[in-house]
Amino acid sequence: MNKKNFKPCDLVIFGVLGDLSTRKLLVCLYQLDKANLLESDTKITGIDRFPGGASLLISTAQSSLNKFLAEPLNEEVWQRFSARLNYLQLDLTKIDDYQQLNQYIDKENRMMINYFSVPPSLFKVICLGLKKSGTLTDESRMVMEKPIGHDLASSKEINDAVSEVFTGDQVCRIDHYLGKETVLNLLALRFANSIFINNWDHNAIDHVQITVAEEVGIEGRWGYFDDSGQTRDMLQNHLLQILTFIAMEPPVSLRAEDIHYEKIKVLKDLRMMTPENVAEKTVRGQYAAGAIKNKTVPGYKEEEGANTQSKTETFVALRVDIDNWRWAGVPFYLRTGKRMPAKQSEIIVQFKQLPHNIFTESYADLPANKLTIRLQPNEGVEVDVMNKRPGIDEQIKLQKTKLDLSFSETFKNSHIVDAYERLLLEAMRGNSTLFISREEIEQAWTWVDSMQNAWAVKGDEPKAYAAGSWGPDDACELLKRDGRSWSS
Ligand code: BG6
Repeated sequence: MNKKNFKPCDLVIFGVLGDLSTRKLLVCLYQLDKANLLESDTKITGIDRFPGGASLLISTAQSSLNKFLAEPLNEEVWQRFSARLNYLQLDLTKIDDYQQLNQYIDKENRMMINYFSVPPSLFKVICLGLKKSGTLTDESRMVMEKPIGHDLASSKEINDAVSEVFTGDQVCRIDHYLGKETVLNLLALRFANSIFINNWDHNAIDHVQITVAEEVGIEGRWGYFDDSGQTRDMLQNHLLQILTFIAMEPPVSLRAEDIHYEKIKVLKDLRMMTPENVAEKTVRGQYAAGAIKNKTVPGYKEEEGANTQSKTETFVALRVDIDNWRWAGVPFYLRTGKRMPAKQSEIIVQFKQLPHNIFTESYADLPANKLTIRLQPNEGVEVDVMNKRPGIDEQIKLQKTKLDLSFSETFKNSHIVDAYERLLLEAMRGNSTLFISREEIEQAWTWVDSMQNAWAVKGDEPKAYAAGSWGPDDACELLKRDGRSWSS
């Protein structure tokens, strides 16, 4: 990672004792400190509603680090890091109370970054409180996490409220998948390798599959999740971001505006779902009790705090058509679900079969090349290629083989940074390439809303699937209808 090239910061984390902050943000900030990527004068102020002082945040951070760090705490780094931490108890709904923030902020010497790690319903009031506190300057920034809204209308409401206080350049909208090494590598793979440039369209590619399978269930987040479902929680953001990286035209440069421009074009070209086509193009599922790695797990409606009548989907599979020149007739099959047999995120680019086969001796039907991009785990890139089998057979005999690039083997000595480490650093640097623009989010919602509306009109319920399976049988039917099958 590059060295720091920004001012010291006042990083203010709203909801500092919550799940995201304790699991990810504090740990990643410690890692940045360890890598000497935080200015010595950078301060971290945590805000939450529970009573306490700096010692509360220090002890919370310490237990998070002990729990989530792969290696033991480095005493020297910990001393430096813990000295940066302050804590402020605040009722976020009381606008006048934000004045208290002033005691921790140094407007002259530090740049203020406000991380909203709280439900979106609080975004508006926090913006107003910050404005009234007088702590903001033109260079202050705010970072917000998905979900940014529940649909297009609520997303606009949030963006409007935020834009009353922060200008476009000051807002960082996070989708943590854009901080993942392997997702960023898609840009390198596509735009730094000439072998792919001319083979990346409907002439060469038969179809694309994007799978983001999770082994975990709801993890105590039933309230949030039941309101979202897998479509809003994973598809609207993470899977669509991956899709845009695969499908976009080459951007003019790596500048944020050039990348955002190309991604928005793809989102605009997604064919809308309608009540007429939604049943044929989408499958929703909800996990029932089952077993994962031989351990029995409860069904979604049996989880703690569950509404036993819930019709929320924990799995969704769909065929996406992109109506543009490059992708005409090339379906993108997307699938994501909780309680799948394994955590596995991958992209399959299935190339077309050759028009003529001269190797009928070995293969009556010559298999087409397949590019597999393993996003997580076992990060890597794999290509199925046909080779001559060594030997003195009368005819050339073929064998299907793999070119396999494993990241852990190839980049043995590199530290794979966590997505949040990268994104926190980019927020401090003020580089918005890895953040999502307002237009992108709203375009993604426009398309997702077309699907949600079509489902609402049809009134179909999600199909049950056993935890530990790859979703309802209909997900296989979805591809079978087109003469294809999921790669795993
Ligand atoms: C989050 C979702 O955005 O991403 C979670 O809210 C999901 O439900 C998580 O489990 C998956 O992230 P990762 O990095 O583990 O693939």
